[in-house]
Amino acid sequence: MLLAVAVLLGVTLVALADDDKPKCGPLQKLKIKRQWDKAYGEAHHRAEFSVHLWNHFFKDHPAARDLYKKFRGDNVYHPRFQAFSSRALETLTMIIDTTDDPEALKEIIKFVKADDAEQGVTHEYYDGFLASLLETLAEYLDTHLDWDAWTACLNQLEEATKS
Ligand code: HEM
Repeated sequence: MLLAVAVLLGVTLVALADDDKPKCGPLQKLKIKRQWDKAYGEAHHRAEFSVHLWNHFFKDHPAARDLYKKFRGDNVYHPRFQAFSSRALETLTMIIDTTDDPEALKEIIKFVKADDAEQGVTHEYYDGFLASLLETLAEYLDTHLDWDAWTACLNQLEEATKS
């Protein structure tokens, strides 16, 4: 009897631990879409967000600047780099908007990876970029940031870039 109770308790605890694990379900996907629109914003605000994001990324991965030589990666304020960044972040917006459509998401990621692979972009860089994205979002959304939703959905995205 004691053994049966112990087993049951164990199963319940495991189930609870599983329930606690952040998920990237429909609710979380909706939440990150809303939060992305709020944080990335519009017009000049976007340029400011982008500068923060790249400054975080290049601080942690200084060697990555060399990959962006033709866009003046040495100067994230340069109009050429800004133009490049808005194209990349437009695609990121598309990715965030497509998280609930796995087939379409696969196609976008395939396109991004093909472009990036030619430049020697590694998984370490994708991981670093997504970590810098989270850091920047935390600055913009402050206590409104849904940490669990973002970490679960970015983990899912990180996995998708590996397949
Ligand atoms: C989810 C994250 C990412 C998205 C959505 C993305 C998207 C894009 C897009 C759309 C382009 C083409 C831009 C153009 O029109 O010129 C591009 C190019 C590029 N990306 Fe990414 N990218 C991501 C992550 C990264 C990372 C982590 C790196 C590594 C540091 C990287 C390095 C580059 C480079 C060097 C180019 C320029 C390619 C060239 O020289 O033509 N990207 N990316």
